[in-house]
Amino acid sequence: MSLKKIDPTKTKSWDNLNSHYKTIKSSSISDFFKENPFRSDDFKIEWEDFYVDFSKNIINSKTIKLLIELCKEVDLKNSIDKYFGGVKINSTENRSVLHTALRSKEKIFLENIDISKNVKEVKSKLKKFSNKIISGKFKSSSEKKITDIVNIGIGGSDLGPIMVTHALKHYSNHLKIHFISNVDGDHVVETLKKIDPETTLFIIVSKTFTTQETITNANSVKKWFLSKYPNGDVSKHFIAVSSSIEKAKKFGISENYIFPMEDWVGGRFSIWGSVGLSIMLSIGPDNFEEILEGAYEMDQHFKDKPFEENIPVILALISIWYNNFFNAETEVVIPYSEYLKLLPSYLQQAVMESNGKNYDRNGNPVSYETGNIIWGSTGTNSQHAFFQLLHQGTKFIPSDFIGFIEPLNNKNDHHEKLMSNFFAQTEALMNGKTEDEVLKELNELKYSEDNIKRVLPFKIFQGNKPSNSILINKLTPKSLGKLICLYEHKIFVQGVIWNIFSFDQWGVELGKKLANNILNEIQSDIIFTHDESTKNLIKKFKKNS
Ligand code: F6P
Repeated sequence: MSLKKIDPTKTKSWDNLNSHYKTIKSSSISDFFKENPFRSDDFKIEWEDFYVDFSKNIINSKTIKLLIELCKEVDLKNSIDKYFGGVKINSTENRSVLHTALRSKEKIFLENIDISKNVKEVKSKLKKFSNKIISGKFKSSSEKKITDIVNIGIGGSDLGPIMVTHALKHYSNHLKIHFISNVDGDHVVETLKKIDPETTLFIIVSKTFTTQETITNANSVKKWFLSKYPNGDVSKHFIAVSSSIEKAKKFGISENYIFPMEDWVGGRFSIWGSVGLSIMLSIGPDNFEEILEGAYEMDQHFKDKPFEENIPVILALISIWYNNFFNAETEVVIPYSEYLKLLPSYLQQAVMESNGKNYDRNGNPVSYETGNIIWGSTGTNSQHAFFQLLHQGTKFIPSDFIGFIEPLNNKNDHHEKLMSNFFAQTEALMNGKTEDEVLKELNELKYSEDNIKRVLPFKIFQGNKPSNSILINKLTPKSLGKLICLYEHKIFVQGVIWNIFSFDQWGVELGKKLANNILNEIQSDIIFTHDESTKNLIKKFKKNS
């Protein structure tokens, strides 16, 4: 009943795509535009407030047709139905994958139990609690209003909340939201410097309540809290988001203040429920509801639209096209908004923890590339950092440009300048600059022949670098919900096609275990067997610490 186990490379479409690749790989995107004046209309999807232009890619209508045939051959539709239907598609952990239930308006049954009821109850508890904190009705141990919130969590229990609270700062209220994630004590100390324990609420977010970083940080913060505020009541200042109720209670958290996380919600897809509490506190329940509404609408789009008009499907396919046929090693995401500064790091966990897998769903090693490497940073800053390599480096790096038509703060002509850069960069990446164009320019600038010879090759831009442009009307809680959800479904589609399990993360376990062993060695005289390099590093550290 789980996902089908079809090796994509054994399909007819894969063979066809391979042959097609040979005929199209050296084609020029700008020539495509010259040949087809309607290209930008042919390769775009306009949906609600989203305008997704994928015309600046090394694709033609045959590419899309073949990629969609691939979806049909691996029975993507069947996988989508299983995903939304609560089938245990996270087979290696024997779990359903139902973060979509957290934003759904329909009844959802899991093993004949209507889980939507429970989702509603938890949401209503989160809203009531948030309203109390925001309005100041909730009082601290010394009857003061809460002014600061500290989210203590890591990975999915941090990256989503921090990314979204930053992205929606424009919509935020008076509460100051802080995040402690790294087990690095400096992170703890620097955050604690900014807060007053008497007016701070700490949210310990950990699905398992065993994660080393989170529990160490929570314990240190509790110790600090009690030393600074001896009359402070831990049960009033520490709350938890967890599926491990007993462990949270043991820490000193009152059962009333434990917000549950279900086992069918993976950490990196969890912002839509209790893990989103810091987001709800920051922007209020109504705005939080808008995020869910946006995601719900994208869910409907993904479920219902034919693949040709389906934004997550098309973006997933283009990414597979480059990853598996052009051998692209990475993909860059460039939001033209400082509010979306943390989106690339959020996507790194979502994409790479999900699809960084080297065994297929049959349990065999894969013979093809899977998970893309995702990186990026905001425009225009990144133009002055890594764009040189995008334009003239030797790597082939497809990109996603994300921007907004309407600014949230328009001072003078900042937004026009910002977005001119967005459009200019996608154009420059595609068109490049030919030798003739450079020559003409240098002649116009009256360069001597010698000087022209000296600089000419360095001023040439090869061009033909593909990009997708995701242009959204305005950054709102709702459009952000849609955007995050778009990438969630893109990840899903890719995992289905690559025939891998996207919803486990066994790859993070080994390092965790070894770190615990080494910690024992550092804190005692026991010495385990290590390679010489690791042994010497530990020795050097022990001697000096
Ligand atoms: O790094 C692995 C991981 O399990 C992530 O998937 C998860 O988001 C993170 O650790 C935090 O886990 P927890 O919420 O259980 O503390």
